[in-house]
Amino acid sequence: RTIYLKDYREPDYLIDRTQLRFELAEESTVVDSVLTLRRNPNAEPGPAELTLHGTELELLALEIDGQPVAQERRRISGETLHIEGVPDAFTLSCRTQIRPQENTSLEGLYKSSGMFCTQCEAEGFRKITYYLDRPDVMSEFEVEIVAERSRYPVLLSNGNLTVAEELEDGRHRTVWHDPFPKPAYLFALVAGDLSRVSDCFTTCSGREVDLHIYVEDKDLDKCDHAMTSLKNAMRWDEKVYGREYDLDIFNIVAVDDFNMGAMENKSLNIFNTSCVLAKPETTTDLGFQRVEGVVAHEYFHNWSGNRVTCRDWFQLSLKEGFTVFRDAQFSSDMGSATVKRVEDVSLLRTAQFAEDAGPMAHPIRPDSFIEISNFYTVTIYEKGAEVVRMLHTLLGPEDFRRGSDLYFERHDGQAVTCEDFVKAMEDASGRDLGQFRLWYSQAGTPRLKVAGYYDADSETYTLTVQQQCPPTPGQAEKAPMHIPLAVALLGEAGALRLELDGTPADPETSDNTQMVLDVTESEQRFVFNNIKEEPVPSLLRGFSAPVKLDYDYSRQQLLRLMRSDSDGFCRWDASQVLGVAEIRRAMTADADSYQVSEDLVDAFRALLSDDSLDKAMVALTLQLPSEAYLAEVIEPVDVHGIYRAREAVRYALAESLRDVLMACYRANTSDEVYRPEADQIAQRSLKNTALAYLMLCDDDECQGLAKAQFDSSQNMTDRLSALTALVHNLHPYHTEALWRFYQDWQHEPLVVNQWFQVQATNRQPGTLETVKELMAHPAFDIRNPNKVRALIGAFCAQNTVNFHQSDGAAYQFLADQVKQLDRSNPQIASRLLVPLTKWRKYLPGAQTLMKDALNSIMAVPELSSDVFEVVSKSLQE
Ligand code: ARG
Ligand code: ZN
Repeated sequence: RTIYLKDYREPDYLIDRTQLRFELAEESTVVDSVLTLRRNPNAEPGPAELTLHGTELELLALEIDGQPVAQERRRISGETLHIEGVPDAFTLSCRTQIRPQENTSLEGLYKSSGMFCTQCEAEGFRKITYYLDRPDVMSEFEVEIVAERSRYPVLLSNGNLTVAEELEDGRHRTVWHDPFPKPAYLFALVAGDLSRVSDCFTTCSGREVDLHIYVEDKDLDKCDHAMTSLKNAMRWDEKVYGREYDLDIFNIVAVDDFNMGAMENKSLNIFNTSCVLAKPETTTDLGFQRVEGVVAHEYFHNWSGNRVTCRDWFQLSLKEGFTVFRDAQFSSDMGSATVKRVEDVSLLRTAQFAEDAGPMAHPIRPDSFIEISNFYTVTIYEKGAEVVRMLHTLLGPEDFRRGSDLYFERHDGQAVTCEDFVKAMEDASGRDLGQFRLWYSQAGTPRLKVAGYYDADSETYTLTVQQQCPPTPGQAEKAPMHIPLAVALLGEAGALRLELDGTPADPETSDNTQMVLDVTESEQRFVFNNIKEEPVPSLLRGFSAPVKLDYDYSRQQLLRLMRSDSDGFCRWDASQVLGVAEIRRAMTADADSYQVSEDLVDAFRALLSDDSLDKAMVALTLQLPSEAYLAEVIEPVDVHGIYRAREAVRYALAESLRDVLMACYRANTSDEVYRPEADQIAQRSLKNTALAYLMLCDDDECQGLAKAQFDSSQNMTDRLSALTALVHNLHPYHTEALWRFYQDWQHEPLVVNQWFQVQATNRQPGTLETVKELMAHPAFDIRNPNKVRALIGAFCAQNTVNFHQSDGAAYQFLADQVKQLDRSNPQIASRLLVPLTKWRKYLPGAQTLMKDALNSIMAVPELSSDVFEVVSKSLQE
């Protein structure tokens, strides 16, 4: 069942033109395809046989050049249709029947709230018709859609609309032509009763592009933010990457039932409603930022993904890593760059580092897989983006831009590999990226051990850097990688000018206080000259590489970094190191003897009292390391010990800082009209961080805050923060608040999801029972991925103390849900089960119970390839 990169071969046939006709109806849909095929001149010589992909299709007719293909010449087996004795060039006409109404996998053509829509990436097109469903087969598409007008007034596909007409029987048809050859995974179709918000954008060369966002009528008031984000993204890509949009129309459609965030289908992006709809009353600040980021991400794919696509699915990070890097750059330009960086690093250091240390660890360009859907991972996306970011750091912005220009120019219209991307960067910059390429083939998180030595006599400071990467499945030995290590040396009066042995300081740059060291060997020394005082090293600035860093800092040094490092990421990271140390200490102390460190309290007090700081960063710094991050650095993971210790520290901080927190809360309460912009977002985030602490103090003034905020707030950010504070602290008002919240928002599915999530993430005992009860709530629907993620997903992945309750009941609960979901939606089932796969990290008792749950899934006959791959790999020795 395993597919290997080394087995890649060019396709035997190419499809120059694809004509599709869809007759959409209530029972079933008939799909007619006419494919213009020819033998690939580069294919290895072989018999004149054509093998097409196809699953769950009913074949009604098959002709070659107008002649029916005899039964003896064709054979359907598994996922393929095999035809013998085909000419070198021919037309294949095929009629299939499919049942979108019964398609619960949300892959291929399916129905979501009365609307037909598609999701073809990675291999969903084969559920629509027989085809060469692989990304290196690129074709020009013409698509005709026929449907009843009253139910489906809007009929959309990729490219330009060429025909729209009424038919006699109450039906109508449209024809769409996409002039850009594309692989089938970028095909899309939408038919439904949709309303739209329109705008337009004039590109840098003067092309007028019509922009439309299609939604259900009730959601028309939630499209403005996505539209603004889209226009910002279009302008930004012209300015920063020189990329102009290439058609006269760009459509976005919102659908309720969607497996992922969104999909970049050529000129017809399809979005999960959660990633496109936003308005202040229903959407949190985080939600607004997510919409901006995802709209930009999908738009940027038009170049990094569509104009230049992937040769095969092993190259997925070619488009995803690069596009995530691009959307991160965009978001930092739109808001606070440091906040964005800290959020991205937090995700990487929890989810990705955990994946890289677990049974599914894979390089950003995997060598093999069973089910490609399982490889839409934080490694491919987020670590992939970090690898592109390292290229940007190593080459510098100008050469990086030259490299990306060369990449787009060289490969426009092609399906290429990660190697082609690196080669373009290499050719444009003249840098040798030979060793750097290991980032594409080696899995695992390298660990850097750094030590510093100051020699006052010679006025030198020496950094010794060792690197080591742990073994991962299938990769026992690792070679040293090329790691860009950004450093500065802090003196009493600020960062010192750097002069590296043998490399005189660069006179071009006015600021010589930061340097990127090329770490390439397993052990290396860097000697800095003319250092007149013993410095504190500021290391891995901006998180310049996706590695774990060990440096034996003293408390004094950490407090100094936290106070005065000019790198915002390092300031925050120093606070995290102090936080981890504090929680470790609380874990070993017994409950009554633990006393919070005075210097930490002072540092937090200083943060809270300094008006000159970025409030969003203050908020992030005040939040202690998350349970997920603690589970990465404290092994084996004692979930309950970590939770209790973290709570003890939070309580102690809240008590010691009560008055400054209260002052901060008051000072940041404002009645300005809501804007989803950086300054306001920062202010709300600080205020709500203060609120979460204050709710731990049991005086009346503190306890009154959340209720007052819940009752008076006008925006979802403040309302949800208040609700969370009430519910998670079992405030007397919490039941009523939950009830009110539901009354107010029951007609808004995305808000109901937040309501589910607040309850699912409640650390109080008994939450598993609550989750089970909520699954029977009329608003819950196991067929809707957003609901599953909000309730079951949030409980299992975020509510660690309850998921790991000691009797193992929650493990079994998850296993049961996975078994059920696997029958309707394997992709969601396989995602959901990830928390169980990390069993090796936990204490022995938990390990056994988690393995039992995995084994019970493994015992199910006929598991999907999705679930089979994840479960079997996680049980492997
Ligand atoms: N290409 C999409 C994006 O990252 C994700 C589609 C994933 N689809 C899937 N079936 N795994 O923007
Ligand atoms: Zn993407």
